Amino acid sequence: MSEFRRACEKVKQFMLGDNELKTIRDRLLENMRRGLDREGVKDAKVKMLPSFVTHLPDGRECGTFIALDLGGTNFRVLLIDINEEQIDMDSQIYRVPQECMTGTGEALFDHIAKCMSDFINRMGFADRNIACGFTFSFPCEQNAINSASLITWTKGFSASGVAGKDVVALLTEAVARRGDITVEIVAVVNDTVGTLMSCAFEDHACQIGLIAGTGSNACYMEKQSNITKLDGLQDADGKMCINMEWGAFGDDGALDEWTTEYDRILDANSVHPTKQRFEKMMAGMYLGEIVRLILLDMCKEGIVFTDDALPILETPESFGTHMVSQIVDNQPRHFAAVQNILACADIGAIRRDCEIVHMVCDAVSRRASYMCAAGISAIAIKIHQNRPDEYLDITCGVDGSVYKKHPTFAKLLKVKTNELVGLGIYVNFRLSHDGSGKGAALVSAVSTR
Ligand code: BGC
Repeated sequence: MSEFRRACEKVKQFMLGDNELKTIRDRLLENMRRGLDREGVKDAKVKMLPSFVTHLPDGRECGTFIALDLGGTNFRVLLIDINEEQIDMDSQIYRVPQECMTGTGEALFDHIAKCMSDFINRMGFADRNIACGFTFSFPCEQNAINSASLITWTKGFSASGVAGKDVVALLTEAVARRGDITVEIVAVVNDTVGTLMSCAFEDHACQIGLIAGTGSNACYMEKQSNITKLDGLQDADGKMCINMEWGAFGDDGALDEWTTEYDRILDANSVHPTKQRFEKMMAGMYLGEIVRLILLDMCKEGIVFTDDALPILETPESFGTHMVSQIVDNQPRHFAAVQNILACADIGAIRRDCEIVHMVCDAVSRRASYMCAAGISAIAIKIHQNRPDEYLDITCGVDGSVYKKHPTFAKLLKVKTNELVGLGIYVNFRLSHDGSGKGAALVSAVSTR
């Protein structure tokens, strides 16, 4: 068998047909029901976390706020001015050093407070008492809009002493330790919720928020009467935004049929083994690694490159997700461009190698967008079930590096979602620039109104 044929054989397992995607969609729907249910939630992997955001912005919000956005490789501090249906902002990006992500919680929150202080000083707000919205993009149990206990870290974070604690209190303490700024954290939101809020500010049909970035997750507006696990909801006809934490879908084996040997190796080597199985199939933090593991296996079997490439392919993180994007951006027949990208990583490739690499990158990216489409179609169907007689035309607000930077992810996501939703539903996607940060300010505006 030719090398190309042997490579196709290996890549086949990443190709999911519509029937398989529908099975995944329906399993997620079942998980969603369980996560909202008083009894079912006890062993639910998809946590379906209430956000205590009950209203989308209506354009009347106003004020000046600081927003913090922590969740990926960078930490952003923003100054946001909401005024007459317009949002002006300035911001600064700060790096979160590896030792803060994986050290002590105190060091992490001290770092955040230091960046806040630096930014607030630069903006000339040091002597003002300013309200702050905190976008904290990890699974949190909330019982109010300004309190959120971390359930568990995800992505590359593992700072000690934070799980089980209220992150608003930890940040407030860190700010108090410095004593040089006066901020009150009035709202804490997940990045998906922030994205939904900022997209809904511009588009009233927006009911879903999606992050396709370093991590992956979605939220949507659910009828309060369906959230039976939550006591004391005032408004039987009202809604509440649910942070699904869909990344954990599959942690009970629900995705095992579609889990490849490469997914298993990736999981075993990750910061949080056995956790976030759905996320590990589609988020930016992992796509490059999956490609690396496939190419390593193929290289060992003599299908691609020569043994000279082994030391590089054996090095974790040597194949970044940005390389996957760049490679997919080229036609396989334009092999010289792929060859250059590989050369930058010190991998020597002939034409056949480039074609195989292209095929691998395409298959891994395609699976990611189709998995995501299965997820969004499950949400759209769930929303439609509340009003089955009406045609549902909704918008999904999206933010995240994979959605913004990958050349085919967004298009495949849109097409496949609408193939999977069935009749009577249409889902439009709308990029929400800086949505997660702006959304925290909008939630703050609503909650201080
Ligand atoms: C986190 C979510 C977050 C997503 C996108 C996941 O790892 O658990 O809370 O929304 O990443 O940032």
